[in-house]
Amino acid sequence: MAAAASARSIYQRIFSGIQPTGIPHLGNYLGAIRNWVDLQSKSDQILYCVVDLHSLTVYRRAETVKQNVRDMVISLMACGVDPDKSILFQQSKVSQHAELAWILGCKTPVGILNRMTQWKAKKTEIGGGMEHLGLLSYPILMAADILLYRASHVPVGDDQLQHLELARHIARTFNGMYNTNIFPEPEPILGDVTRVMSFRDPIRKMSKSDQSANSRINLTDTDDLISKKIRLAVTDTISSVTFDLDKRPGVSNLVLMYAALTHQTPNDVIQQMMGKDTSQLKAELIECTVSTLRPIRKKITELQREEAFIVQKINEGCRKATDLASQHFCDIKSLIGI
Ligand code: AMP
Ligand code: TRP
Repeated sequence: MAAAASARSIYQRIFSGIQPTGIPHLGNYLGAIRNWVDLQSKSDQILYCVVDLHSLTVYRRAETVKQNVRDMVISLMACGVDPDKSILFQQSKVSQHAELAWILGCKTPVGILNRMTQWKAKKTEIGGGMEHLGLLSYPILMAADILLYRASHVPVGDDQLQHLELARHIARTFNGMYNTNIFPEPEPILGDVTRVMSFRDPIRKMSKSDQSANSRINLTDTDDLISKKIRLAVTDTISSVTFDLDKRPGVSNLVLMYAALTHQTPNDVIQQMMGKDTSQLKAELIECTVSTLRPIRKKITELQREEAFIVQKINEGCRKATDLASQHFCDIKSLIGI
């Protein structure tokens, strides 16, 4: 494993995954990526995986898939995921993920999969029996990702807690069936920021799939674009700055973002903004968003010119992950008699 001599191992082994959907937005950064970076000082056994197999549940052209994987690796590194501290790799390059998913699929009743909230939502959205098997078995592949490395902890967003619970259930069932303790039951690590909302419709999450480009800030947005999007953010007719997610979702979202970016609580921000109005809050938010994202954007641009270096880093990560995965997968196969 990659070892950082000074890392304190609060967590035994961390695994997490992110879909390659192009350049991440501020919601991805505050809700997931920043936690990944911070965790690097809390464990010396970390695997971060760009889950390209999961991303195949949505059709994209081959060139786009390739580009998305590269963009995600670059973005993660630019945000501070350090391949010398964590194993950063691409899921499809370690064949045991798919193989273990098959094995675990043979132990998982369809009834449980049918109850998954995300599956039910996608099924309704697609409809007409056209929803495919990959969407139904998505959580099994996610369980395989985690269990393949016998990870003890998984940083996730709250929308993935149900899938993680299923991974725990699968681990328990497998261990019981084969009278083993090969799989630890992975615990979630929840970050402080769970929901960064859309600037245009603050009761919906900031999302890549939102039609309006002004609804989100991407990590590569220029200072001017960041400024414009925040100035246009929907608020309400009250000018003072208060925090009430139900009654004032727009302003409260800006308070939450400001709090997250400056490592404060929403209450601290309210105190600080006493006597100021929402346009001043926006001005301060612009300043701290710009100063957080400027170095990241610069690093992304630099890394985009370093094609060979990026390929080398992905390959190194895949090699390290494969070493670990092969060892464990051998034990798993021997347990089940294949
Ligand atoms: P996605 O691209 O939606 O699969 O999200 C990748 C990661 O970013 C997941 O860990 C999500 O929980 C997190 N994430 C996505 N959107 C948001 C958001 N608007 N606020 C906070 N976290 C988010
Ligand atoms: N399903 C996760 C998401 O959509 C991504 C993911 C795949 C993942 N495998 C994982 C997250 C394993 C944590 C652990 O965000």
